Amino acid sequence: MQFAFHRPLRSINEGRRKVMKRILYVDCCIRGDESRTRRLAARLVDGLGGRPGLNVETVRLMECNLTPLNAGEVELRNRLVSEGCFEDLFFGATRQFASADIIIIAAPFWDFSFPSLLRVYLERMCVSQMTFHYNEKGETVGDCRASRMIYVTTRGGYTGVMPSGYPNLAVEYLKAFCQMLGIARFDSVEAEGLDIYGNDPEEILKTAQRQADRLLAELLSGVKDV
Ligand SMILES: Cc1cc2nc3c(=O)[nH]c(=O)nc-3n(C[C@H](O)[C@H](O)[C@H](O)COP(=O)(O)O)c2cc1C
Repeated sequence: MQFAFHRPLRSINEGRRKVMKRILYVDCCIRGDESRTRRLAARLVDGLGGRPGLNVETVRLMECNLTPLNAGEVELRNRLVSEGCFEDLFFGATRQFASADIIIIAAPFWDFSFPSLLRVYLERMCVSQMTFHYNEKGETVGDCRASRMIYVTTRGGYTGVMPSGYPNLAVEYLKAFCQMLGIARFDSVEAEGLDIYGNDPEEILKTAQRQADRLLAELLSGVKDV
């Protein structure tokens, strides 16, 4: 197995004045205002917004014209990295991600996972020497500032074993992603079974909202330490 061994880029997060805690809210709720996932995430995001010392930045992926990395962009990215051009416009979203204190991701459960739009975004967040680097053993070491990621989702059915349940590849993916990028803690708020005949989606959402409220209270009490 071959590994590229790079020295870490620390300049993004070093020397930053400790003023505001930056919360990055990544909204991948494709159905917009119809989205129940967005409603659930709002419990957290609205609860954090407007608090002294906290600044919530929202990125709505549906408005970002995101495309999968193509061959030309891979080449450009490699060149920019090798020349240390991390301030380039190309890395604008990556810099924003790398310098957030807490990252909240809201995305509905689609096809065992999250919508491909989020995958395309996350692909652009994995930049060697910027959000992670390799150590001398060839292992990845995370360089993101965030100490926490919170993933909010709703799903029509249930996770479990097919055919009655769906594998939860979203959580598996995001946990691995956090580990690689050095984000120590991962939490999820998940509402399940919303589209199952006979279920009451509003009641299910209310239960999940209470879970979000508890997480919000915990975040607010600990936010000075993140
Ligand atoms: C394209 C698509 C794929 C979906 N795939 C799944 C799935 O694999 N498992 C599941 O339980 N529900 C699935 N659903 C149902 C959604 O998870 C569910 O309706 C969810 O609450 C939608 O969130 P939203 O209201 O935020 O859009 C899918 C829905 C769509 C539109």
